[in-house]
Amino acid sequence: MEIIKRPDNMERITTAELAKAFIEEQIGAIRQQVGNKKVLLALSGGVDSSVVAALLIKAIGKQLVCVHVNHGLMRKGESEQVIEVFGKELDANLIYIDATDRFLDLLAGVAEPEKKRKIIGNEFIKVFDEEARKLEGIEFLAQGTIYPDILESDGVKAHHNVGGLPEEMQFELVEPVKLLYKDEVRVVGEALGLPHTMVYRQPFPGPGLGVRCLGAITRDRLHALREADAILREEFDNCGLAEKVWQYFIAVPDMKSVGVRDGKRYEGWPAIIRAVNTTDAMSATIEEIPYAVLHRISDRITAEVDGINRVLYDLTKKPVGTIEWE
Ligand code: XMP
Repeated sequence: MEIIKRPDNMERITTAELAKAFIEEQIGAIRQQVGNKKVLLALSGGVDSSVVAALLIKAIGKQLVCVHVNHGLMRKGESEQVIEVFGKELDANLIYIDATDRFLDLLAGVAEPEKKRKIIGNEFIKVFDEEARKLEGIEFLAQGTIYPDILESDGVKAHHNVGGLPEEMQFELVEPVKLLYKDEVRVVGEALGLPHTMVYRQPFPGPGLGVRCLGAITRDRLHALREADAILREEFDNCGLAEKVWQYFIAVPDMKSVGVRDGKRYEGWPAIIRAVNTTDAMSATIEEIPYAVLHRISDRITAEVDGINRVLYDLTKKPVGTIEWE
């Protein structure tokens, strides 16, 4: 098995000029590999798959078929951004599947984290597979594999359909950013004209809000989590923390406490803020959010989000706490 290695003399892509040269080179390589055949891509809206999509659209236009599966566990506005950017602005061949009900029905009553993850992962493959089977003449599968993925798996991952397609659906892989580091993928994404918010998006786990809506997911608590998380992100954008903090989000546990609202007893869930800095996600420190910002976030969430009556700030480093609550 061939081990893919970044050439020692490959220059780090740090400028728009270098990115443009890379894009031109890849357009040629993609056209040569694909010819007039069709390519399928699972487009999550994350940095890597978005950059690969934009690159392929530039190279082969409508020969690329993007499938965006909304599992109902996306953050507020994320699927909408995929539709706006790829479906409208870049005029991509985009299939949008709202599979929210399928996922949430399967997850109903399931509290155990590993079971939840398994359900989400398996169902994702199933939905994507069903869509792929409906399409005709697809010979290639594009993937947003990046160089750290290859390093972490000793070159093995690139040889598998890690998007999760079954073995019998054999496609040749198209992996145009497989030799790039994350920072280079971002520079290329900006040179391709993708929105800054998409290219500099914080890491977001595959199971999405499913790992942050703790215990058995209910639609009302998931909704509260999504709204509270959107407020946190908006406030971080407003005060410049979004550019500085590595990962920040809200988790909502499956428990209620007593509160008071409009002079009446009001039972609600707590929203837990997590805001961490790290380089490799193996260990993480806590961002010192200014108290004024914390107060504003707390006031807004308790006033604007139905079902939330407290806001807590998690001060636990990793280790001993993991970044996600699960
Ligand atoms: P933990 O919670 O283990 O998280 O400290 C470390 C980092 O990994 C992210 N994470 C995931 N990323 N798929 C992903 O792509 C996943 O299933 C997944 N689970 C956790 C987490 O958000 C954090 O950045």
